[in-house]
Amino acid sequence: MALQLRPGIAEIAPYVGGEASLPGVAQPAKLSSNENPLGPSPKAIAAFREASLDLHRYPDGGAERLRAGIARRFGLEAERIVCGNGSDELIALLSRAYAGPGDEVLFSRHGFLMYRLSTLAVGATPKAAPEKDLQSDVEALLAMVGPSTRILYLGNPNNPTGSYLTAAEVKELRRRLPAGVLLALDAAYAEYVEAPDYDAGEGLVRAGDNVVMLRTFSKIYGLAGLRLGWAYCPPGIADALNRVRGPFNTSAPAQAAALAALEDEAHEEKSRAHNRLWRDWLAGALTAAGYRVHPSVGNFLLVEFTDADAADVFLKSRGLIMRKMGGYGLPHCLRITIGSEAETRATAAALADFAGKPAAAQ
Ligand SMILES: Cc1ncc(COP(=O)(O)O)c(C=O)c1O
Repeated sequence: MALQLRPGIAEIAPYVGGEASLPGVAQPAKLSSNENPLGPSPKAIAAFREASLDLHRYPDGGAERLRAGIARRFGLEAERIVCGNGSDELIALLSRAYAGPGDEVLFSRHGFLMYRLSTLAVGATPKAAPEKDLQSDVEALLAMVGPSTRILYLGNPNNPTGSYLTAAEVKELRRRLPAGVLLALDAAYAEYVEAPDYDAGEGLVRAGDNVVMLRTFSKIYGLAGLRLGWAYCPPGIADALNRVRGPFNTSAPAQAAALAALEDEAHEEKSRAHNRLWRDWLAGALTAAGYRVHPSVGNFLLVEFTDADAADVFLKSRGLIMRKMGGYGLPHCLRITIGSEAETRATAAALADFAGKPAAAQ
């Protein structure tokens, strides 16, 4: 008998990362993956170099020093933290530990794609709840909870929409979810959020045994290439993740660089201030040019177009690479990462020119 794939695997459309190159353009602006344009802290780079002297050694499988550093920095308990090869791996591990064939995993319609992919990978059934004006909708999510629901993934703030639920809304969502549903709060962009009514969810994790919070070093800490994410968990969930993860799932250089990045609070603040300034500037410039720009608390903007494909081609002709949104059910949008000042100004100028073209040419 021929090899047989497990049910669900063939349905997975492999995740496609942001485009990074353009033929004929030596140094395009890569604004397609929500990376930090300032790069990581120089202290993280130094720690990474230092770690390169010990590449013949296995990493600390428990990431003890890094977990202690995270606990110190955020006022958490180290034993409730589990590190992963990016928060992507932690999403995959949660799905593996808590869902399988016959189970349902819930998320909102324009939620981060890995929620769906990790669900299919374990043979469970993905369920997408409608959103209201590109915002996760607590009532719509709750209405889709059934006896087979095992996990609810909430991107908060969500990528690619940039919207968020307030601490009160998330608390209400948890209160009305059955105890047997794991609420996974994916707070990959938490460090960028300055809204006073936002909360990444540490308190909800501590309050019970069925909420987990995911964070990453890929965004504000500028270490996407090293792959380091972490989960703050109730003890039972930390235990489950430690059982299903690989023994050395995060590398030694990644652990060392992440720890140094955490300790450079000045670089983090500089990154936050850069993002605040240029995100708000770009949103203003694009709105003035006639575009609909969705409010974002992250390091990216979701922008609507009459013809997003034409806009993408035009932007690429100026060396600017954005993320197309067809895979997220938003084919009329592009997602624009906040880049350097020069990249942001070039984006605004290009889109002003594009808006100035006759509609037929767009
Ligand atoms: C909402 C969200 N969660 C998780 C991730 C994955 O991040 P990591 O690089 O830690 O795997 C991303 C990356 O874009 C994201 O946008």
